[in-house]
Amino acid sequence: MATRRLGIVMYGVTGRMGLNQHLVRSIVAIRAQGGVLLSNGDRVMPDPILVGRNAEKVAALAKQYGIERSTTDLDAALKNPADEVFFDAATTQMRADLLTQAIEAGKHVYCEKPIADTYEKAIKVARFANEKGVKNGVVQDKLFLPGLRKIKLLRDSGFFGRMLSMRGEFGYWVFEGDWGQPAQRPSWNYRKADGGGIILDMLCHWRYVLDNLFGKVQAVSCLGATHIPSRVDENGKTYVADADDAAYATFQLEGGVIAHINSSWDVRVRRDDLVTFQVDGTHGSAVAGLTKCFSQHRVNTPRPTWNPDVPQTMNFYDQWEEVPDVGSENGFKIQWEDFIRHVVADTPWHHGLIEGVKGVQLAELGLQSWAERRWLDVPEIKL
Ligand SMILES: NC(=O)c1ccc[n+]([C@@H]2O[C@H](COP(=O)([O-])OP(=O)(O)OC[C@H]3O[C@@H](n4cnc5c(N)ncnc54)[C@H](O)[C@@H]3O)[C@@H](O)[C@H]2O)c1
Repeated sequence: MATRRLGIVMYGVTGRMGLNQHLVRSIVAIRAQGGVLLSNGDRVMPDPILVGRNAEKVAALAKQYGIERSTTDLDAALKNPADEVFFDAATTQMRADLLTQAIEAGKHVYCEKPIADTYEKAIKVARFANEKGVKNGVVQDKLFLPGLRKIKLLRDSGFFGRMLSMRGEFGYWVFEGDWGQPAQRPSWNYRKADGGGIILDMLCHWRYVLDNLFGKVQAVSCLGATHIPSRVDENGKTYVADADDAAYATFQLEGGVIAHINSSWDVRVRRDDLVTFQVDGTHGSAVAGLTKCFSQHRVNTPRPTWNPDVPQTMNFYDQWEEVPDVGSENGFKIQWEDFIRHVVADTPWHHGLIEGVKGVQLAELGLQSWAERRWLDVPEIKL
């Protein structure tokens, strides 16, 4: 059984996502397990070169994680024919240009979402990748969450009957940074000019979650808000937080399913998890968090009575049954392995840049719906 090397130019690995999810929990983990196994028994060993603006930082990371190569020279890295893949997890605003540059250099490309900060740039780069015939992909990590994999299992088994609605609650309190608790997210998330805003951030995710699990998104109505107008940044400096930090969005899906998802960085959590999805169908309902999922079949549905004069006797949380585990491998790593197999062995792949275009499209329509205070249809995209 042979082991084949795959050179990967990795950009943005000093950031939160690039470092934790992509470098450490995916590429370093894949290297530690001896590479990615192919169906013929061969293995593919990723050989990354870490690229960043700060030479010491990327060199230190490389050293820490047993990686041989790092550089500040992206142009030179892209010129090296021995590195076939370019990956980007740096800032959203530079993404489309970086991907374009990599595609021009003949690289296969894989990246974080959103694939661009505007629909126009997103479709342009996806078309370019298609024209050039390079393999391409975007991170769709939420599909790999055990909680949502359990929802898919229930759906595929026919558990829900006819699906009626899905309500999603995403969010937690992100500290303002002004009274002792530092903020837990980068400050650019809260500045429009730096590509921030929860609508651009989260509607990209909700697009593929809805399309894949509940029904293709046909229309959107979105109300955004900037609840906290001023925050304190990484250097202790107060800044104007002008980007939307909450979004209250309703979606009409194919098949008549209605979905409503609240996304907020200004909400305190009293629910099963930081994100929860409740699905109600004629035959059963389920609530999934990041990992767990609880179901209630029609025959197990209790009969509550509305009586405001008597304190509630039912514990509603006790009336659900837990769906057994489906495995808990990190989703970012699973997707990396799939992409590597797709590049090397041409295996099927469902997360091309076109999926990223759909995400940016929905985010842009969400922003437009908010600005114009109206429902908007979601047009089909042709590459
Ligand atoms: N899939 C997910 O669940 C998920 C979650 C969070 C963020 N993201 C996406 O990941 C990307 C990075 O987000 P993050 O939270 O890791 O941000 P971050 O601020 O922690 O990291 C940003 C990275 O970009 C680099 N960078 C910033 N400005 C740059 C510039 N001008 N030139 C070159 N490099 C620059 C930084 O050095 C750093 O490596 C964003 O596109 C974001 O939307 C995805």
